[in-house]
Amino acid sequence: MLTQSTYSTQITNAIEQAQFPTDPPKLYDPIRYILGLSGKRIRPLLVMLGADLFAFDDMESTIPAALAVEYFHNFSLIHDDIMDEAPLRRGAQTVHKKWSENVAILSGDALLVKAYEEIARCAPAKIPALLKVFNRMALEVCEGQQKDMDFETEDSVAEADYISMIRAKTSVLLGGALQMGAILANANEQEQDLLFQFGVNLGIAFQLQDDILDVYGNPENFGKQVGGDILCDKKTILRIHLQQLVDVQDAAVLDNLVNELDAETKIETTKKLYAKYGVRSIAEQLKDHYAELAYNALETIPVGDQQKMALRDLAQNLMVRTY
Ligand code: IPE
Ligand code: IPE
Ligand code: MG
Ligand code: MG
Ligand code: MG
Repeated sequence: MLTQSTYSTQITNAIEQAQFPTDPPKLYDPIRYILGLSGKRIRPLLVMLGADLFAFDDMESTIPAALAVEYFHNFSLIHDDIMDEAPLRRGAQTVHKKWSENVAILSGDALLVKAYEEIARCAPAKIPALLKVFNRMALEVCEGQQKDMDFETEDSVAEADYISMIRAKTSVLLGGALQMGAILANANEQEQDLLFQFGVNLGIAFQLQDDILDVYGNPENFGKQVGGDILCDKKTILRIHLQQLVDVQDAAVLDNLVNELDAETKIETTKKLYAKYGVRSIAEQLKDHYAELAYNALETIPVGDQQKMALRDLAQNLMVRTY
């Protein structure tokens, strides 16, 4: 825990000290704005903990890679919020609402370039390996995001296709962040791979929790619009299981909801069906299953148990997160 909070402080300081130009303001203000809204910053922490796992002795040198991952994440959120028509992020207006969609597109693009600038600051000998992981991960996020959008207009999505979609849009970034840390710490390929598997399974559980919170989060601290996924007809894990379980009558209700224009009615009707068919507990069980797979992968990494404590703690906290 001590190392974890030390690393978190180092990450906060690095983000606060980052300098972005001031002109043109509509390009750089949104970047300062979204990074200033903070968030949990778990991905840069995963880079550092991925290096720490292998007792790396130059932790300061992992900061650029940690920043690159957090910049990439924030870039993906700016664009995700346009795609999901989200009004709120981290308890504040989303970039496209505060400025405009055009501003959000371009400032997001600039933030992606800033992520690559940070990778260029990493130890030169490590850059090719880091780029290989980063680029594969970045493309997979785009693939997952496109599938997430495609599923909005599909009636029934198989659970396996959903898992493969969230693996791409969310999990590979967590796995990739850890792997980048492992690369910096000179871990071998087998070690890198096991750590990546830990991150991917953790990421799947993380996105399952995200789907659950989108419906059951407390508006006081959630920071995003509760019910946003329902309004966009997202095929979340809850919605997929509902689709499989509904009787003929409820199936018709569900079909008609696509055309429901009143947000409150759409959210409340869907939530009633979720409750009637008990889909929340199905989602919770699946989340526990992937968390278990993550812990198993962590067990198999050939380093001392003490070294794994920070990652185990972080994983446990994420499984019960409320925002
Ligand atoms: C939100 O990620 C996007 C998802 C992949 C679910 P986080 O929940 O980590 O968001 P912040 O960075 O803490 O705000
Ligand atoms: C986000 O998934 C994944 C990426 C940003 C790549 P969501 O759309 O569920 O994330 P939130 O709920 O808006 O944070
Ligand atoms: Mg979203
Ligand atoms: Mg989305
Ligand atoms: Mg979500």
